[in-house]
Amino acid sequence: MKKFPKDFLWGGAVAANQVEGAYRENGKGLSTSDVQPHGVFGDVIERVPGDSSIKDVAIDFYNRYPDDIALFAEMGFRCLRVSIAWTRIFPNGDEERPNEDGLAFYDRLFDELAKHSIVPLVTLSHYEMPWGLVKNYDGWGSRETIGFFERYARAVFTRYSDKVKLWLTFNEINMSLHAPMTGVGLPEGSSEGLVYQAIHHQLVASALAVKSCHEIVENGKIGNMLLGGLMYPLSCRPEDVFETLQQNRSWQFFGDVQCRGSYPGYMLRYFREHGISLDITEADRDALKETVDFVSFSYYMTGCVTTNEELNLQARGNILSMVPNPHLSSSQWGWQIDPIGLRTLLNVLWDRYQKPLFIVENGLGAKDSIESDGSINDEYRIRYLNDHLVQVREAIEDGVEIMGYTSWGPIDLVSASKAEMSKRYGFIYVDLDDNGKGTLARYRKKSFYWYKDVIASEGANLQEN
Ligand code: BG6
Repeated sequence: MKKFPKDFLWGGAVAANQVEGAYRENGKGLSTSDVQPHGVFGDVIERVPGDSSIKDVAIDFYNRYPDDIALFAEMGFRCLRVSIAWTRIFPNGDEERPNEDGLAFYDRLFDELAKHSIVPLVTLSHYEMPWGLVKNYDGWGSRETIGFFERYARAVFTRYSDKVKLWLTFNEINMSLHAPMTGVGLPEGSSEGLVYQAIHHQLVASALAVKSCHEIVENGKIGNMLLGGLMYPLSCRPEDVFETLQQNRSWQFFGDVQCRGSYPGYMLRYFREHGISLDITEADRDALKETVDFVSFSYYMTGCVTTNEELNLQARGNILSMVPNPHLSSSQWGWQIDPIGLRTLLNVLWDRYQKPLFIVENGLGAKDSIESDGSINDEYRIRYLNDHLVQVREAIEDGVEIMGYTSWGPIDLVSASKAEMSKRYGFIYVDLDDNGKGTLARYRKKSFYWYKDVIASEGANLQEN
């Protein structure tokens, strides 16, 4: 019988800026997320007194985490992926000393998880950085930011070395190519050269964090985090196939540096041919040699690639400008649903890196409705997750080493792309609408009981189609 490993880390994943709220409490500084009220692709709107954003309160996890964690525990979670808001620890990013109130909050959070034997998996930077570093230092455009990040990383590794053993550096590090403000704190429209220089600084910072983690956290493990943007050729025309290889390299490049410790030749060629000359020092090259212990990634969809200009033009409006796959259906948000793609991606990453893999995001954003008897029958979500988990199990059979699976948004949260609430991912419904109105009460959906059974049976209840 096909099985998940006994120590498989079943759970869910959230990010500070999408759940916590409390955006100015206990000394927290403003982050890039706080000035992007319309989401990661949205404009920067500087805060003025009296304004508000749905993320200011979000789902109030900052105050309600004990109850939410109790619900995760009821589902049998073995792992919860959270992120630390860098601005709770270093409000402007360049302070000499960390903010004790911010550190104390995450102490309480990790203690609460420990009470329920839930292992924390902690992202150092999930789609946000101190706004102070953007205003005063050009974000990751500046080499100085490497030092500020290293100070932050060392502060949290030291403080939580006994409580947190699993760490991730930057969420979806390859996203900077599509959303530079969110990824590297550079304005939209920044030149490619500037963005790649900022990315270089971030890759060095990531490697230095890996080194610090290895020094400070006994038995700790630290991974990278990629947006697993697997692309297929739209046709078997050799031009389409080669273009697909190149487009997959646009995200694999990050993994290649973080797993192999140096820049791959195809990227050096790209820089040469696009007039990009990066400032890479000997010390940087040395730092990059410290590679991650495991590879984590998000997986939501796949897309197609073609050199046909007309089809590409039509696809421009789609997320990441992907050409749709005629063989797949889509979510209400146009994200194409492809469970087999997850098995393919797991195999591709395993073949490429031979490092343990961790699926740290996967899920279906959908509109839910509450029936008159109070139930929420999210069969579509159950089907989506079931079909993806069946493919994870197939990949395990293929010999891929997988540490765990944390589904995205086990509790409804503010979506990243457009800061909406109606795009729900949770097993737990939160009473809050797109305008930030609602009681914030929590309700168990049908998928809550289903996921609980999946974990309890270690996947034995999954249905193969
Ligand atoms: C990933 C991010 O890109 O996708 C999450 O790491 C995000 O922060 C998730 O929420 C789903 O995207 P969205 O836009 O539906 O929230």
